Amino acid sequence: MDRIRIAPPRRRSAQQEITEFCAGFNEAAEFGSEHIVDLAGIYRRSTPDVMAEVGARFAGGAKCLLIQEFGASQECGAAPCTDRARTIASAALLGFTAALGFKPYAFVQERAGSLVHDVRPEPGARTSISSSGVMDFSLHADCACLGRDLRPELLSFLCLVDESSTETEVAALPDVLRNLPAEAIEELAAPNFLHRAPDSFLGSAKDRVSSILDRVDGAWEVKVATHSCQPLTAAATSAFQRFVECANQARAAHRWRAGDLLLVNNRECLHGRRAIGQGKRHLLRCYGSRTQRCGATVDLSR
Ligand SMILES: [Fe+2]
Repeated sequence: MDRIRIAPPRRRSAQQEITEFCAGFNEAAEFGSEHIVDLAGIYRRSTPDVMAEVGARFAGGAKCLLIQEFGASQECGAAPCTDRARTIASAALLGFTAALGFKPYAFVQERAGSLVHDVRPEPGARTSISSSGVMDFSLHADCACLGRDLRPELLSFLCLVDESSTETEVAALPDVLRNLPAEAIEELAAPNFLHRAPDSFLGSAKDRVSSILDRVDGAWEVKVATHSCQPLTAAATSAFQRFVECANQARAAHRWRAGDLLLVNNRECLHGRRAIGQGKRHLLRCYGSRTQRCGATVDLSR
């Protein structure tokens, strides 16, 4: 996994500005598009070298990038995380994602349209296979059942605390495809798979029949949730089994430290985790897109 560090003086400068910006806000739900533009400006001014480095790494082929000790709030690492720390961390997550050129957006049907999602076990959802559960959550792309323009291009995760030492696993698509026979790739590119709407969506997200692999501008992209995708033919079933084997072999694991920021290309990388054990675990997540409007709440019923 590619890693980047922010020089401590630049990090402190950005954190201070973000903290000052948040002084007038009680919670992340109050951040609108105009606030996100301002927050992005803080990172563009404070850490231009980091923005350039992230861009260069992605342009150079990285599919997943860890920014170690990104920070966001000195209160990160406390368990449970304070509301203040969550608000500041949310501002940092939205601002940094937007500074990279990926506009944060959300769905009306998911988590009440919130731009920042709490990724932690929630009462009542613990046995669901989702970011609110504790069960094993095998490799997947987020929102795999949605059309390409609706799916997030970038997933940004910021760790507030992880006492459970539950690693997030990622598998970059080129590493998966390297070990797949050409005939399996061809089969995975055919529309013979049922993609089911995830548990985190209420209502309007529909199951969809499509491919798993798509050739876009000469490069392969992936969309699948391996725990729920249903192959519809015998050949599709066989190719899917090979795909899952190769994806699992290509996994790299990241053990979280408070303040880590993980950027995942949701079109060319799968992610997942094993079951969550004892101890508090709380990440924040936001979706980023280059085509959606900054701060948009997309209504899937339209
Ligand atoms: Fe996910």
